[in-house]
Amino acid sequence: MKLHELLEDYEKKPTKKYSGRFKKPQHRSPVSGEKGKFSRVKADVKDFSRVHKYNYIPVQDLHKYDPYWLYVDYVVGSELNKQNPYFPKFYVSQTIEDKDGLKVRKLTMERLHDWSELTNQELIQCFTKMYNVGSNLVQDVVRGNEHIAIELFGIDLEVLAESGNTRHTNTTTEIKDKKLLEATYELSIMLHSFNRYYTEQTNLDIHTSNIMIRKENNRIQPVIIDPFFNKGSL
Ligand SMILES: Nc1ncnc2c1ncn2[C@@H]1O[C@H](COP(=O)(O)OP(=O)(O)O)[C@@H](O)[C@H]1O
Ligand SMILES: [Mg+2]
Repeated sequence: MKLHELLEDYEKKPTKKYSGRFKKPQHRSPVSGEKGKFSRVKADVKDFSRVHKYNYIPVQDLHKYDPYWLYVDYVVGSELNKQNPYFPKFYVSQTIEDKDGLKVRKLTMERLHDWSELTNQELIQCFTKMYNVGSNLVQDVVRGNEHIAIELFGIDLEVLAESGNTRHTNTTTEIKDKKLLEATYELSIMLHSFNRYYTEQTNLDIHTSNIMIRKENNRIQPVIIDPFFNKGSL
């Protein structure tokens, strides 16, 4: 095994006790489907290429039914993130329990970038790699209408994942990148299996803030960080 493969292995650490008390989480709007749950991202001060993501777990064993954790477990278990660049790299996860029994799940993962950090040139590079892009889309991107381009990306992915079929994509775009196509099939498999075995209420949640960017050797790679939500989480 090569050194970098060793370093990229995933480790699930045992639950750790915290002698203090976690601050109670902020409740979000119920409309977002995330009431009573929070996530927070902090830089890993020891390794700037990584972040720590903290998720509050409001009830016992919610992680078994929370599509975010089902997603993480699936990606790690199937090693999809080693074969397909559209999946995030996760390194360590650990549950931390405070003196009142409140639990927070800490996940160490690669640090990613926001879409808004990309130049138009980078957006074009990214979209033309993924799609046989219609000229109107490129024009939109060139004119700085990143919003349209990104929404299209989200919508296409969603339609594809639901139908599992390229023919149903928007007429302006067609997926060119085989890895993207593969990723949409995998999302579709996950969605169906989560609904079948865990909950009836998992839905796709593909939009700009749930897709981030990996920048590696000047290459722009979209990464699907949080593709599902579950109305019934609480
Ligand atoms: N790996 C990461 N690197 C940098 N920022 C991140 C990373 N993962 C998440 N974030 C930031 O945190 C936000 C929320 O993350 P997300 O996984 O979508 O959780 P949730 O929507 O459940 O709060 C993202 O929109 C992004 O701004
Ligand atoms: Mg999200």
